[in-house]
Amino acid sequence: MRQDQSFDATPSATVAIRRGAGLRLSTLVATALLLSACAGSGGASAPAESAGAATEAPAASGGAAAGGYPDRPIDFIVPFSAGGPTDTVTRLVADPMSKTLGQQIVVKNVEGAGGTLAAGEVAAATPDGYTVLMHHIGMSTAPTLYKDLPYKPLEDFKTIGLVTEVPMTIIGNNDFEPTTLQELVDYVKANKEDVTYANAGIGAASHLCGLLFQSAVDTKVTEVPYDGTGPALTDLVGGQVNFMCDQTTNTTGQITGGKVKAYAITSPERNPALPDVPTTTEAGLPDLKVNVWHGLYVPKDTPDEVVQALTDALKAALKEQSVIDKFAELGTTPVSEDQANPEAHTERLQSEIELWKPIIEEAGVTAP
Ligand code: MLT
Repeated sequence: MRQDQSFDATPSATVAIRRGAGLRLSTLVATALLLSACAGSGGASAPAESAGAATEAPAASGGAAAGGYPDRPIDFIVPFSAGGPTDTVTRLVADPMSKTLGQQIVVKNVEGAGGTLAAGEVAAATPDGYTVLMHHIGMSTAPTLYKDLPYKPLEDFKTIGLVTEVPMTIIGNNDFEPTTLQELVDYVKANKEDVTYANAGIGAASHLCGLLFQSAVDTKVTEVPYDGTGPALTDLVGGQVNFMCDQTTNTTGQITGGKVKAYAITSPERNPALPDVPTTTEAGLPDLKVNVWHGLYVPKDTPDEVVQALTDALKAALKEQSVIDKFAELGTTPVSEDQANPEAHTERLQSEIELWKPIIEEAGVTAP
């Protein structure tokens, strides 16, 4: 982890590590080719309520691994902006995990390059269990999208366990003309690159969904990259961009609050949190299915007993009723217990790398 970033070290402050403009991706205009894709298994709101970057200093409640781990605060690294969907999921599990581990967890946002900057920094961090990465489906798409990725997802990390499955929603600014998915498709075909699509950079889930959308309609639009879909959504609501595809953890509140219009949800079934939003199949783009999964990672040489302590804490967190309820409110679900472990996580990572590779290659999209 770079030491030259400034951050507010007060225990409850949000820690946002911002990179220089040189690290921001330039606007990508994706080459859209006809293809279809379906992800493995399974939205816009104001920036998620911050739970505070650091969990409350918890009373030790057991769970310490052999060797005394953890005996100081643990950093959880989020590869996108504060207030976005990955940040929200991280904060929701960090709080109960810190109670199990008996240590404070500090959430740090390391933004840039579609989430690959943070992953590279965690891969190179001291493997002692005090630097933990929360990442999502982007861990499986980055190896194909980035020719010079400075880490290998399957070799440079140990997995802790899967965390959530999150559907995505295709949403538009309220003043944007199309009102249904079919109207959006027709509008995009008619107006092409005059239409703007917000994403969180090459490798983000919003980038992948946009790629699938453009491929499904065989038309490219102008992509506008952000450091995360938190700020992207703010601009969408403000009318700076036309539409985007983002996780329900970010969009549910904005959809139900009438701040954006929802065209479709990318899951096979409608979501109980958004019962009026049709599925992409119902709305006319049955091949556009994508499900965002999250998982926790540590550097590859992290001791097994530390991994075990983190996995145990994750499992306990995902069973907490308050976590389950909050996830449900946001249209998502924690993974089942048999998925919250390193074996299931590694298997999922491997299968998703294989799933997305040919799709991305066929689309001809690479990071600069
Ligand atoms: C975020 O947290 O900002 C999102 O997960 C970005 C994305 O993957 O689209």
